[in-house]
Amino acid sequence: YNFSALRVYSQGTSPPFTTVTGTLALSVFTAVLGSLQFGYNIGVINAPQKIIERDYNATWLHRYDAPIPQSTLTSLWSLSVAIFSVGGMLSSFTVGFLSEWLGRRKAMLVNNLLAFIGGGMMGMSKISRSFEMMILGRFIIGAYCGLASGLVPMYVGEISPTSLRGALGTLHQLAIVTGILVAQILGLDSLLGSQELWPVLLGVTVLPTVLQMALLPFCPESPRYLYIIRCQEHHAKSLRRLTGRQEVGDTLAEMKEEKRRMDMERKVSIAELFRSPLYRQPIIIAILLQLSQQLSGINAIFYYSTSIFQKAGVQSPVYATIGAGFVNCAFTVLSLFLVERTGRRTLHMLGLAGMCVSAVVMTVALSLLENVPWMSYISMVAIFGFVAFFEVGPGPIPWFFVAELFSQGPRPAAMAVAGCSNWTANFIVGMAFQYIAELCGPYVFLIFAALLLFFLLFTFFKVPETRGKTFDQISAGFQRSVARTDMDLDPDLGKASTELEYLGEANLS
Ligand code: GLC
Repeated sequence: YNFSALRVYSQGTSPPFTTVTGTLALSVFTAVLGSLQFGYNIGVINAPQKIIERDYNATWLHRYDAPIPQSTLTSLWSLSVAIFSVGGMLSSFTVGFLSEWLGRRKAMLVNNLLAFIGGGMMGMSKISRSFEMMILGRFIIGAYCGLASGLVPMYVGEISPTSLRGALGTLHQLAIVTGILVAQILGLDSLLGSQELWPVLLGVTVLPTVLQMALLPFCPESPRYLYIIRCQEHHAKSLRRLTGRQEVGDTLAEMKEEKRRMDMERKVSIAELFRSPLYRQPIIIAILLQLSQQLSGINAIFYYSTSIFQKAGVQSPVYATIGAGFVNCAFTVLSLFLVERTGRRTLHMLGLAGMCVSAVVMTVALSLLENVPWMSYISMVAIFGFVAFFEVGPGPIPWFFVAELFSQGPRPAAMAVAGCSNWTANFIVGMAFQYIAELCGPYVFLIFAALLLFFLLFTFFKVPETRGKTFDQISAGFQRSVARTDMDLDPDLGKASTELEYLGEANLS
């Protein structure tokens, strides 16, 4: 297998060209089947709302001989949507523990149990006349997605060669957006979004699960996990399979160095991430990057696009939603090809800036809509622009960036904290958006514009570039910056220079 299109010129110390071997391609593909389900379950709930609500009503009628009160129906529906993120919030916290205990690959394998149970419950809820089953199913599939959102980027980051880590890491997001798009299309009422077929729409999420379970046994465990955490010798075999080379001395030497450093540290708990000056800066960056992804307001679009397009005067909101899904996929592909050339930091800033401008344009267009009807086109273009810029940077980058910021020791705990922040913010936006939109009318996206501006400034001042650097070089950069702070005589000056000087290219070559 020689995917020459994916050959990318590498920076730093690794060999100048890297080839994606069959084993690496298979392992990444298998892992991101989990991301596909994550996206599918985000997107699947938007279109069939009305028909599922009708069945909730039928169940109520059957049980109590009276139609369901509107307020109860609204609460049951909000719960069915939002409990997904609660499942994600809770489970993402256990990513660290599970991935250390079972290993990355086995943890993904075991996680599939949750997908079976969750998908099965949602698929059976109609025949069982039970909205409780549906709500519990959404909670369990949310828990599955929470684990996948930590395990997949961690595994992919650890098995990828340095020069392709960003491009392969972006595949996690590409699978998510593909999942969203597939769900939007299958959700059309002429396909599976009908009164009879909606249980199939929700239940088919188990299909990628079966495929993943069949393929995982052929994927090697992360060699970094085997060697650095488990001290097992057969890591070299995994490494040879992944790289397709017999000579893996350079990567082994790098892992040895990372292990040597790790053996000198104590095991890193979540509390320690915040206490130790060594990890405080990277964990704050990791959390803020996740918040920049969610508080950008992207899921306001993906959860409520149909009603946003309706308000913007768009003729067929369902098709406009699918259009947004296509734009979402196209720009993730663009990011895939740019991320190793342009770098994470630049793309992230470009994305945040573009989203901020799009949000302002959207606000102007929505507020002029009543007097200037053609503003509906401008607002649609602004919404598409918002989504496109999201996928250039803030969509894909935070997911794999966290794995890059930390070395093997603190990585699992950091992934748990970052994942949990992401899911919590996702939950808050999902729950609060409709209420805030009612209060603020067309000005609601100005709140996101202000937040985007803040995250843009934060990224400019605090976030380092990690492209082309090994995990060890990245964490060594943070250690160096902490050491410099300690030595600095002027504490205030020291603080400013520490972060700004972080990882100057010259320091690492
Ligand atoms: C990211 C976000 C997710 C969002 C999606 C949209 O993966 O984590 O919440 O729905 O992008 O493409």
